[in-house]
Amino acid sequence: MATRAAVPRSVGALKAACDACRDCPLGEPATQAVVGAGPRRARLMVVGEQPGDREDLAGQAFVGPAGRLLDAALQRAGIDRGAVFLTNAVKHFGFTWRGKRRLHETPGQREVDACLQWLQAEIAFVAPQAFVALGATAARALLGRPTPVLRNRGQWLARDDGRPVLVTVHPSALLRLRGDDFAQGLAAFVDDLGQAAGRA
Ligand code: URA
Repeated sequence: MATRAAVPRSVGALKAACDACRDCPLGEPATQAVVGAGPRRARLMVVGEQPGDREDLAGQAFVGPAGRLLDAALQRAGIDRGAVFLTNAVKHFGFTWRGKRRLHETPGQREVDACLQWLQAEIAFVAPQAFVALGATAARALLGRPTPVLRNRGQWLARDDGRPVLVTVHPSALLRLRGDDFAQGLAAFVDDLGQAAGRA
């Protein structure tokens, strides 16, 4: 995947441009674009899938239940959330209405492709040395190829530009587990993230 995207002046400028994006159908119904946050020169960029309902309303990535679990896992893995640039592959919340509730819909390849320009702009802005891909959508966006998560989790894979991507599960997948399954899933997630601790 090429990363020679134009470097935005600031995250604010990126958000304004992204807010106006109508390159796919997700922009119009969403409240706002949710771009990444973190230090300008973070060494590690952590990439999720797409903002959820809470993130869409707050305008900030990973502030809902998946974000709380991610925070706890990062802490257990020895990674300071404040030291990483945290973002998503897709910048607008995609949903369908169920009664009065907005239910998350996994983005399709069209949306991921349309949004790649914004992820590339963030990568150009931050210039991280390494990435963590949370789930298949992030892994595909970062690596430019389908990357089955269960077969590749816990491994560092190389992007076309040579920078390494640690593949792991998405915290939302863990939120669907119960009891021992949840505890084991969380421990394995923390183990995966621990591999990136020295790179944050
Ligand atoms: N899930 C994601 O992938 N990103 C968020 O920001 C929130 C939930």
